[in-house]
Amino acid sequence: MDKITNDLFLRACKRLPVERTPIWVMRQAGRYLPEYRAIRKNTDFLTMCKTPELVSKVTLQPVDIIGVDAAIIFSDILVIPEAMGMYLEMHDSIGPVFPKPIRNKTDVKTLKHIDPFDDLKYVMDSILLTKKELKGRVPLIGFSGSPWTLLTYMVEGRGTKTFSNAKKLIYNSPELAHELLAKISDAVASYLSANIESGVDALQIFDTWGGILSGDDFEEFSLRYIRKVISQVKRKKEPLILFSKGVHYCLDALADSGADVLGLDWTMDIGKIRSMVGDRVALQGNLDPAVLYASPEKICLKAEKILKSYGDGSGHIFNLGHGIAPDVSPDSLKILVDYVKKESLKFHKDERL
Ligand code: CP3
Repeated sequence: MDKITNDLFLRACKRLPVERTPIWVMRQAGRYLPEYRAIRKNTDFLTMCKTPELVSKVTLQPVDIIGVDAAIIFSDILVIPEAMGMYLEMHDSIGPVFPKPIRNKTDVKTLKHIDPFDDLKYVMDSILLTKKELKGRVPLIGFSGSPWTLLTYMVEGRGTKTFSNAKKLIYNSPELAHELLAKISDAVASYLSANIESGVDALQIFDTWGGILSGDDFEEFSLRYIRKVISQVKRKKEPLILFSKGVHYCLDALADSGADVLGLDWTMDIGKIRSMVGDRVALQGNLDPAVLYASPEKICLKAEKILKSYGDGSGHIFNLGHGIAPDVSPDSLKILVDYVKKESLKFHKDERL
């Protein structure tokens, strides 16, 4: 395996000295890039995810075109429920749909135990090929949804504003919710371990819908299973990032979850959170993705505020507070990336040897 030339991202995850702040962007391989749309126009999304040559091509696009400091394997969080036996459709207008969502005990019992090297072999093949194509330029991140976030899609069947089916499940049939979460957690842990074995350099867990739960429910239905996954994943030195959206109330508990890095959404003050978590974890984030609709001057001003708020020293990975929108101009992202690369040098003066 090639030695990684630009390992700023990995060093920042471990709070080791860096010359500047590394930057990557959630959903960086996607529709905002014309080069992505050119490939996507000939192939449906799921076929793309299942074709290693295409996965590796689009995974490399933001590295080549934008100059980010890490690549994230092109896939989706919903490949796990699909591998567990749920039929998945991706609609251009409504997004992902499970036409037969989980509604009762029989549905939960029917979900199968996965062997990631068999049921999700296409992801492992994609990782192997992408590592080869990257030639060690930047690290490669593997990812999964959190058990709770996967449950919401599996139970709702599609995107929702109310999460009423997921909430009915936890309030009316908590034992069944726990049975389902335990099953999903085993799948997630074995999937992430297989990602590591296939060659990823870091992991991220997307707990996108953690924040729809109250504090006590978050602890019972999301955080407990995230901890379980983190403790089960077989890692050597690969850092693990936990991105939980909208969870102000429990960042302290997240800092003790076993994750090396906490991903922050844009509603939080990264400097304040840094003081709170101390040296327990590194922080990733947290520019409002909508800032990329603003002028170049405004983008740089807002980015500077975040760099300043975090302050001097390692342990910050610059990112957006959630995924990049499909209608953002790639030029705006490039402006942000170039700015962070240049302007963050001054926050790391004491770390250069
Ligand atoms: O970050 C990356 O570049 C890696 C790729 C990636 C995708 N999805 C590709 C994708 C990652 C990390 C995800 C994670 C994901 N998928 C999450 C968690 C992160 C988040 O944004 O909250 C969730 C909730 C999903 C489920 C999902 N997949 C939704 C809701 C949608 C529809 C919305 C949309 O953006 O279209 C998808 C489809 C999807 N996943 C696309 C991409 C590039 C768009 C597909 C297309 O090309 O039409």
